[in-house]
Amino acid sequence: NAQKQELIDEIKQLLKANNAKLVAHYYVDDALQQLAEETGGIVADSLEMANFGAQSDADMLVVCGVRFMGETAKMLSPEKTVLMPDLNANCSLDVGCPADEFAKFCAQYPDHTVVVYANTSAEVKAIADWVVTSGNALQIVSHLKAQGEKIIWGPDRHLGHWIEQQTGVEMIRWQGHCIVHDEFKKFELQRLREEHPHAKVLVHPESPADVVEQADVVGSTKVLLNAVQEMDDNEFIVATDYGIFYKMQQLAPNKQLYIAPTGSKTDSCNSCAHCPWMAMNGLQNLAECLRNKAPQVEIDETVRKKALVSLQRMLDFSR
Ligand code: 13P
Ligand code: SF4
Repeated sequence: NAQKQELIDEIKQLLKANNAKLVAHYYVDDALQQLAEETGGIVADSLEMANFGAQSDADMLVVCGVRFMGETAKMLSPEKTVLMPDLNANCSLDVGCPADEFAKFCAQYPDHTVVVYANTSAEVKAIADWVVTSGNALQIVSHLKAQGEKIIWGPDRHLGHWIEQQTGVEMIRWQGHCIVHDEFKKFELQRLREEHPHAKVLVHPESPADVVEQADVVGSTKVLLNAVQEMDDNEFIVATDYGIFYKMQQLAPNKQLYIAPTGSKTDSCNSCAHCPWMAMNGLQNLAECLRNKAPQVEIDETVRKKALVSLQRMLDFSR
């Protein structure tokens, strides 16, 4: 533990020396979330992470999350150095939607507006007309519906299905999925609800439809956190990555939280959901990347300029 404290002290000192800020997602290790809070950085959902990076006057952003979050920070702040503890921290939605294949898919429907989830590469965003996150997807698709637009959606099929149900819009959908949320199981959730009949069910919309159907609240990580604080209920079953429990417990210390079961017995936290890519961020590689000022997120300038159009459209809409 003395060793851990030494690392934390070193990270704090390096952040200060480099005028750097930590931008962390709710799914990363508790110690990193705590460090971001203590040093004037942010712990947030993907939408707030993007906004924070763009508005910060830091010279350097250290993104503790997955690759698309680092890329988004760099696209919005090309003048800043953007570091990540491990550039291999990816996302199954990003991996499962290669830009060349997605471009061919879109080319089949030239009269459609292309809406992509933020969990995609810069190259995919460069093909898109709009970027959305789970925090604003419903509003943006409703807006496009009101304008009579026909829509191509990618890549998360469950989020796409939920948006279709909520808005009544039929979209041409790419069939990607999140390997973490896709593991939540209908029957296991039903059983847990029977054990805790007063618990309200909070679900991230990357989960399968038969899990989303059981939810009292569906939304982004930020929406789920707000629900726990604002609802009068005392018990909650939470279907999203267990990393969020750090913040949830902190914001609502008197509430009882249960992680929704995944049905798999092999995960590190005994059948609960945790993103293996988010877990690639740790104190050790965070300290190392600050010491070395590497690895840095770099994006081809032509791609960045194109992707910025769809990304900025989203941020302007959400303002
Ligand atoms: P949020 O935008 O809700 O933070 O989701 C990002 C993500 O990767 C969820 O798996
Ligand atoms: Fe991607 Fe799922 Fe991990 Fe989020 S939890 S980063 S959607 S793989």
